[in-house]
Order: sequence, then C-alpha cells, then structure tokens
Amino acid sequence: MKNILITGGSGFIGSHLVRLMVNKYPNYNIVNLDKLTYAGNPENIKDIENAPNYKFVQADIVDKDVISDLFNEYKFAGVIHLAAESHVDRSISNPTEFIMTNVVGTLNLLNAAREIWKDDFSDKIFYHVSTDEVYGSLGDKGFFYEDTAYDPRSPYSASKASSDHIVRAYYHTFGMPIKISNCSNNYGSHQFPEKLIPLMIHNIKNNKPLPVYGEGLNIRDWLWVADHARAIDDIFHKGKVGETYNIGGHNEWKNIDLVHLLCDTMDEKLGREKGAARQLITYVKDRAGHDMRYAIDATKIKEELGWVPSVTFEEGLSKTVDWYLENEQWLDNVTSGNYRSYYENQYNKR
Ligand code: NAD
Ligand code: TYD
Repeated sequence: MKNILITGGSGFIGSHLVRLMVNKYPNYNIVNLDKLTYAGNPENIKDIENAPNYKFVQADIVDKDVISDLFNEYKFAGVIHLAAESHVDRSISNPTEFIMTNVVGTLNLLNAAREIWKDDFSDKIFYHVSTDEVYGSLGDKGFFYEDTAYDPRSPYSASKASSDHIVRAYYHTFGMPIKISNCSNNYGSHQFPEKLIPLMIHNIKNNKPLPVYGEGLNIRDWLWVADHARAIDDIFHKGKVGETYNIGGHNEWKNIDLVHLLCDTMDEKLGREKGAARQLITYVKDRAGHDMRYAIDATKIKEELGWVPSVTFEEGLSKTVDWYLENEQWLDNVTSGNYRSYYENQYNKR
C-alpha cells in the first residue's frame, strides 16, 4: 500500500479527485489533508469517508511543524497538492491569506517532502495543481501554451504563479520529481457559490439579482470538474517528470452568453415563464484588474496522454443545474453564516 497525500480534498475539485482516487486505486492509502476553510466541506466526500483506504486529517499547510510531522508519520510516496485560497474576488479584499496558503503552504509541503525523501526521489512524485490564470489575460486571439510566459494580474494568480515557480525551482535545483498542471475554469457539483456558475444558479433559484461584472464580455474556457480530476489522474500516473500540462475544454464562453444559457436552462427546469430569469441580470461595477480572456491549448495532454474532455458543455451544465436543484440542503448549509457576510461585503458595496 502506497500512502498518497491529497491536499484540499474537501474542496470543489479536490473532492472529485479524492473520490476518483479512493474508488479507482484500492492499493493506495489516500490521506486528505484539509484545513476546512469556508470552502472545505466534509459533506463533499461523505460517500467515501468510511472507505478502508481513505483517511482525513484536518490541518493547515501553513503550519510547517504539523506538516513535517504528518510526512514523517505517513512517508508519502506521492503528493497531489490542491489546497489553496482560490477565489479572485477574495484575493482582492485579502491578499495576505493567499500568499500565506498558496505560497508559504506550498513551500512547506515541498520542504517536508524533501526532508523525508532525503533527496532519493525514486518512485516519488510531487504534483502541483495550478491554474491558467498564471498566464495573464488574452486578447481576442491566441491561446495559453505550456511555454507561455507568466503574467499574473490578481493577487490570486500571482500567488499561484509564485508557487508554480517555487515548485519548478525545486525540480531544477534539487532534482525533486515534480509535475504541474494549469487548468481552465472548472464547473460542476460541489462548487462554492461565490464562483460564477453556482452563484448564478443560487440567485436564479431565489429570484435574486444576477451580478454581471462590467459589460459581461470577459471570456472563460469552461471544463467539467470530473474531466479535470481524470486529467490529474492521467498526469500523476503517466505524465513526464519535470513537465507542465495545460488542461482545458476548448469551450470559451462570454460571461453574458453563459449567464443567458443558465437563465434559459433554469427557467425550463423550474417551469418558469421563458425569459423570467434574464430579467434578474444586473450589470455591476467591474472587478479590479479583470482579466479579459482565458483560453487553453490542450494539445500536449491530448497527444501525450490521450486525455480529452468527456462531456459537452450543454450536457455538463444541465447536470450541474440538476445537482444544485436536487441538493438544496448542501447549498443552504454553505450559504448560511460566513457566506452571508461575504456576499453583503462583495456585492452591496457597489
Ligand atoms: P476550493 O476553494 O473549492 O477548495 C480549496 C480547498 O483547500 C478547501 O477544501 C480548503 O479548505 C482547502 N484549504 C484552503 N486553505 C488551506 C490551508 N491553509 N491548509 C489546508 N487546506 C486549505 O478550490 P478549488 O476550486 O477546488 O481549487 C483547487 C485547486 O485547483 C486550487 O489549487 C486552485 O488554484 C486550482 N484550480 C482551480 C480551478 C477552478 O476553476 N476552480 C481551475 C484551475 C485550477
Ligand atoms: P469566477 O467564477 O470568479 O472565476 P475566475 O475569476 O477565476 O475566472 O468568475 C468567472 C467570470 O465571471 C469572471 O470573468 C468574473 C465573472 N463574474 C461575474 O460577472 N459576476 C460574479 O458575481 C462573479 C463571481 C464572477
């Protein structure tokens, strides 16, 4: 049995990955290390919490002694690192937390791994999960490639870019066997409703205004979260050491077009009059430093590892809406308490 550490496994993407790994690899002991911030929710992985090859540890990656003890206890053979502060708007109001978790936390994990591996890296992997936002903002044309120069513009993307650089430095300097992937925007079940798609679903359901930043013309490249988890599995097992893989859905949407699609889908599913939800759209002050367009070229992962997305966007979005409508309790739980004060701060100041 190999001990594999997944950090951030109680969050949105991490929970999909933990489920996949626990079910697919009974010969791995999967240890999920998560601080359980507002974004981490044990309910996300309730279905596998009693699996014999799964263990949960509540800890903060910024606490280097705790992290070091954990590595000494489990002697991990592999690390898949997802734990992060992940929301751009929060990084604008509170950058420090992003630097602590995303930069210092990543450094602590690298140091703890190096310490127990003692520079004998055979059969070891440190896999760092990152974002396409490190590449900055595209104009109308072009794509992000693995060798596109980094140009982060938000505290969130700058903190992720910093951590990517440090992970790469450990490869070049110490020979640490690392892998990195940079993925586009994910969507699907269990995403915290501060992000565009679940926020819109939640507000449409409750007949609340739909806050579209600026003119709604910014473009994102959306990927079904389970396809991201499959890509991480492929890269972890088959990707080349020291390399970066871009992951994306070739699925670009202007925000306003996506909100229209969601409105129409929800009207139909809720049996409301056609066009009702679109009436809720409210243009609000733009996000500071709002990146215009993200678009991934995912040729490398397709050609080297045979990975391609498995669902169309329409199919994935319809399933996502169904999940949120069928899991009202999940949404009610996560939107009580802290979420309310976050929401008021974020949207009532405009
Ligand atoms: P999320 O915010 O839903 O989950 C993050 C998880 O990390 C939570 O469970 C949280 O409790 C945990 N965490 C936060 N700070 C921690 C700390 N100090 N110590 C331990 N655990 C901590 O994020 P997500 O959307 O699932 O993203 C996961 C990873 O994937 C992140 O590294 C993010 O940068 C990257 N990513 C996300 C997207 C996206 O569209 N969501 C796209 C590309 C890459
Ligand atoms: P988000 O889900 O926060 O992801 P990211 O900023 O990491 O791409 O936002 C996706 C897009 O939607 C982005 O262009 C900002 C926009 N947006 C809104 O227009 N209104 C909102 O309330 C939110 C949260 C996002």
